[in-house]
Amino acid sequence: EKGGWPSFMKKEIAEEPDAVANTLRGRTHDGAVALPELDGVAEALSGINRVLVLGCGTAAYAGMVGKYAIEAWARIPVDVELSHEFRYRDPVLDEHTLVVSVSQSGETMDTLMAVRYAREQGARTLSICNTQGATIPRESDAVLYTHAGPEVAVASTKAFVAQVTALYLLGLHLATLRGTLDADAVAAQLTELEAVPTKIQRVVEASSARIAELAHWMSDTQSVLFLGRHVGFPVALEGALKLKELAYIHAEGFAAGELKHGPIALIEPGQIVFVVVPSPRDPSSLHKKVVSNIQEIRARGARVIAIAELGDVAVVPFADEVIRIPLAAPFFEPLLSVVPLHVFGMELATAKGLDVDQPRNLAKSVTVE
Ligand code: M6R
Repeated sequence: EKGGWPSFMKKEIAEEPDAVANTLRGRTHDGAVALPELDGVAEALSGINRVLVLGCGTAAYAGMVGKYAIEAWARIPVDVELSHEFRYRDPVLDEHTLVVSVSQSGETMDTLMAVRYAREQGARTLSICNTQGATIPRESDAVLYTHAGPEVAVASTKAFVAQVTALYLLGLHLATLRGTLDADAVAAQLTELEAVPTKIQRVVEASSARIAELAHWMSDTQSVLFLGRHVGFPVALEGALKLKELAYIHAEGFAAGELKHGPIALIEPGQIVFVVVPSPRDPSSLHKKVVSNIQEIRARGARVIAIAELGDVAVVPFADEVIRIPLAAPFFEPLLSVVPLHVFGMELATAKGLDVDQPRNLAKSVTVE
């Protein structure tokens, strides 16, 4: 039930902190990952040499975020593929491949068929799912449930942060098994992960009112672009998907490094661009590169809304608006930066007078191919 909230989506965004906390609950112990549900596949997990993550829509974007972290922590190759593309291309799989399906409903037909296909080819299958007893987990070798609680709004929000959390637990579990991270390093990542729910709460509280104002001003907008890099790239894709499905606005997400390879031609005066800015504290040079992307698009008239870490002053002169997120290690930023984009999609649809929970032409669970 909506319990006094104007929409399920608003309620579910407010539940994003709990979705992460509940997905973590009971799965860490003394700074280590505890996933007894994977005991049955322990032997199989120690024999894998690659991971393939499958999903559709938001679930696939969660998978993309997971790829960066799992590869970095467990030093195992990770690919992410849309379920419907995967099963029609004669993929190469064997018992050393771990196929991780990500699905909120556990009933998405494309993902179910992809999992069946992967099993037939001899791959090990692990499902990340939010619905107890759904078909995909039933047909997988193992399941890691997300505990986001029932998600009613068609647009996925709290399931996304829970899926990323589960993928991170899996990544740290694999890193422990493979000895690629020592106990202190695993404990440090878990400490970061455990701090996420409070930080999400702060993002919702600090940014929602301003985002609602921005959405109100933008209710006539025809097109919005989203740029991100590294783990911010799937966040950009997720922000764009929310605008398409909720506000029926043409929206695209791009990897910021791709700008010069085409998308910058789209920039004309007044074009609204959300930019997910990496932390300036990150030792990579990505922050500088993204700030220079912002300068390039600003010089061509773009109106830039930056999502940037608190205290990042370098973006201020170039952005029309800065939405702040609390400090976090790079892998944990997407769990924060995605939240204002969820709020924005909801607020823009609301400003346009649309049904936020039940957008046109869409079903919550796509059980046909
Ligand atoms: O239930 P699933 O996670 O398998 O659903 C996958 C997609 O259909 C779903 O994420 C869809 O893209 C959402 N409407 C996005 O907000």
